[in-house]
Amino acid sequence: METKNIGLRGIEVADTRISNIDGEKGKLIYRGFDILDLTKYSTFEETAYLLLYDDLPTKSQLDEFNAKLIEARFIPKQMQKNMGNWRKDADPMDMLQAFVSALAGYYDEEFSNKEASYDKAINLIAKVPTIIASWHRIRNGLEIVDPDSSLSHAANFLYMMTGEKPDPEVEKIFDVCLILHADHTFNASTFTARQVASTRAHMYSAASAAIGALSGELHGGANTEVMKMLLEIDEVEKVDAWIKEKMKNNERIMGMGHAVYKTYDPRAQVLKELSRKLAEKTKDPWFDITEKVETVTISEMKSQKGRDIYPNVDLYSASIYYMLKIPMDLNTPIFAISRVAGWSAHIIEEKFAEAAPKPALYRPKAVYVGKYCGPQGCEYKTLDLRK
Ligand SMILES: CC(C)(COP(=O)(O)OP(=O)(O)OC[C@H]1O[C@@H](n2cnc3c(N)ncnc32)[C@H](O)[C@@H]1OP(=O)(O)O)[C@@H](O)C(=O)NCCC(=O)NCCS
Repeated sequence: METKNIGLRGIEVADTRISNIDGEKGKLIYRGFDILDLTKYSTFEETAYLLLYDDLPTKSQLDEFNAKLIEARFIPKQMQKNMGNWRKDADPMDMLQAFVSALAGYYDEEFSNKEASYDKAINLIAKVPTIIASWHRIRNGLEIVDPDSSLSHAANFLYMMTGEKPDPEVEKIFDVCLILHADHTFNASTFTARQVASTRAHMYSAASAAIGALSGELHGGANTEVMKMLLEIDEVEKVDAWIKEKMKNNERIMGMGHAVYKTYDPRAQVLKELSRKLAEKTKDPWFDITEKVETVTISEMKSQKGRDIYPNVDLYSASIYYMLKIPMDLNTPIFAISRVAGWSAHIIEEKFAEAAPKPALYRPKAVYVGKYCGPQGCEYKTLDLRK
């Protein structure tokens, strides 16, 4: 028998009200709202509220949500002390996964009802940036920078990481990046979170499992690979030959192509303009190199395989983070800073959705292709009889 549905491609597993992708039209919506509108008019905090509560907040709802997020930004000093025991070259995603999981041990909390789950979601969204920034300071032998309650979610993370308050333009660019990465239907990490939540495990446990899924290079790690490629290419003049050589050898160009979008990824459109804007300011070559990677890959794909290919979210986010002077190994943790909002919404939906069909414990079927000795099973020989 041959396994069908490898990787669950195209298999519908649950209803969701949280987000939707139209891969043909290149549209992504969160709770009915086009992400292009959200990047223009919203903030990460408001978008997180929308993802969690299924509607845009009123002014007072947003103020209250913001106040709760700000209050929850601090992490226990003991946790920061424990981070000091880690190897300084440890992968920040490993550290994040461990300390998100550890949050359950620091807070004696109620996990069983929906209302309490919203508090956990706020705690997670607020604390993930502090965990990452604290670790970044500790590993570099720098003083930890406490959260600043006067700063937005985006600005506060950059401040805790660098010790300097970002200018409003940088803050806006980073905020838009957070909005764009906040949710993307049943991607690998979100599905992981939902699957763990379907066992009725609590929110920190589901979120830490999602962080593990995000850490893999086929998922959250691609933007780091894009930046490595840009650094290797180094000059616009070298792009043409570099891409042609790779594609001739059937190698993949990172940041190009998508399993769902059959046209331009809408997130890549926005990020491209942000990268262009930043490069004009910093005079870095990374936007020009990336744009050339895009055009050469498109034309090579057409001429070699007669097929269309478009940039995905990772192509332009790589240069943006690099120009914002964010260390490359924090690209994936930053993805988590944003995506934890989507994970939290999905975990709550998975555990508490009231409308039919109600979520059930995930239990796919496996196709057994292992040893078979007949219906009676293989003969068990005791240790002394085995050769
Ligand atoms: C994301 C990705 C896995 C989606 O792939 P997909 O749409 O399912 O398409 P497939 O993997 O089936 O590839 C289809 C064809 O396009 C080619 N192709 C797809 N993406 C390519 C890329 N980035 N560079 C070069 N060729 C690519 C494949 O080689 C394949 O060619 P073939 O049929 O001659 O073997 C793929 O585009 C990719 O590997 N991209 C690079 C990694 C990346 O940026 N990941 C982040 C995703 S958000």
